[in-house]
Amino acid sequence: MARQIGFGIIGIGNMGSAHARMMQDIPNVKLVAACDIKESAFDRLPPESRKSVVCCTDIEKFWQVPELEAVLIAVPHYSHVDLAIAAMEHGKHIIVEKPISVHKKEAERLLAAAEKHPELVRSTMFNQRTLPAHRKLKSMIDNGDLGEINRVTWIITDWFRTQLYYDSGDWRATWAGEGGGVLLNQCPHQLDLMQWLFGLPEKVSAQVKIGKHHDIEVEDEVNAYLEYSGNCIANFITTTGEAPGSNRLEIAAQKGKVILENGELLFIRNEVETGEQIRNSTSGFAKPETWECRINLPVESRQQHAIIVENVADAIISGKELIAPLAEGIRGLELGNAMLLSGLKKRTVTLPIDSDEYAQMLGELVKNSRFIKKESKEYVAENMNSTY
Ligand SMILES: NC(=O)c1ccc[n+]([C@@H]2O[C@H](COP(=O)([O-])OP(=O)(O)OC[C@H]3O[C@@H](n4cnc5c(N)ncnc54)[C@H](O)[C@@H]3O)[C@@H](O)[C@H]2O)c1
Repeated sequence: MARQIGFGIIGIGNMGSAHARMMQDIPNVKLVAACDIKESAFDRLPPESRKSVVCCTDIEKFWQVPELEAVLIAVPHYSHVDLAIAAMEHGKHIIVEKPISVHKKEAERLLAAAEKHPELVRSTMFNQRTLPAHRKLKSMIDNGDLGEINRVTWIITDWFRTQLYYDSGDWRATWAGEGGGVLLNQCPHQLDLMQWLFGLPEKVSAQVKIGKHHDIEVEDEVNAYLEYSGNCIANFITTTGEAPGSNRLEIAAQKGKVILENGELLFIRNEVETGEQIRNSTSGFAKPETWECRINLPVESRQQHAIIVENVADAIISGKELIAPLAEGIRGLELGNAMLLSGLKKRTVTLPIDSDEYAQMLGELVKNSRFIKKESKEYVAENMNSTY
């Protein structure tokens, strides 16, 4: 039988239990252990794995499970860094759920620790990198098919959430429990894709609305303006309070316009580059002639998260290149932190942001957080990092 990597999951909540189900169908992976601070969480494991998986509420027992080689960390955000570092110290390969941490300074701490373990595979769960449309767009940009990119607009307003969703966990949508709102929970995928596709901007100015649509203390609407080196600007618009909402990425480039919406990729190509038409046209109004290319995307039957886990197992077994290396997780995080810093301080910020300044701002917000005021102080003490 082909080699199987023994995986453990820390945090058997909504996502961890989904990961446990998904792992059943990955040939080179075997779920061997699960860890959660609540015993009742293990009821969410698939019945078949419940028999064979070692379930631990004590993390020290979890590390000792003999077949455990790799760990998927799917707990609330503030615990990602400490658990990931502990996993590496116990010689385990890691996949850290998004975002890799709540703020840049903590991500720096994690990446410094990870650098000491080049023998381990270290990944993050940027499952949306596996989507055929995103992969195709990345290759089109990298191949120069679009020419110089001048404007990017991402309207990602279909992350609709109700008050019941926010009330479903006391850590949710609080500065102390989650570290932010739509930028920290829903948008890490798009923030990662923004930097993966277009790089990081030089400047960020953002309008951030706190609890505009919900009774929450963190942001549920963001309107950001990004300035890149060269000739490119971007708008990033997101909310959890709009229905039906949109997920539309539009790219205006010299060689035409690309629209990614509803999983479909449309490229309206200019016969001559826009700049050339502006300079050389003998008409005052004529746009370049265009032709429309609806891009055929490969059908991907595998589940996004399963592709990431399988990729990590392949990296452990045969050194396969990672789809989502941990070290890249800091980039989208920094972009989201920059939006919050700009929005809350009401000024344009320059990247790289000062990670100490951000940590200090967040520390002030944490002090007044509802989560700390709730009864669950023990949980906070266990899960908060003390590095503010
Ligand atoms: N990649 C994706 O598509 C995706 C989707 C949703 C959530 N997530 C991420 O997954 C993570 C978990 O989110 P969720 O919605 O499953 O949360 P959740 O609240 O449903 O589950 C978290 C679980 O972790 C447990 N837990 C908390 N602290 C722990 C600790 N120190 N040790 C062990 N167990 C602990 C809790 O008891 C709970 O069972 C977050 O980082 C979130 O951003 C990723």
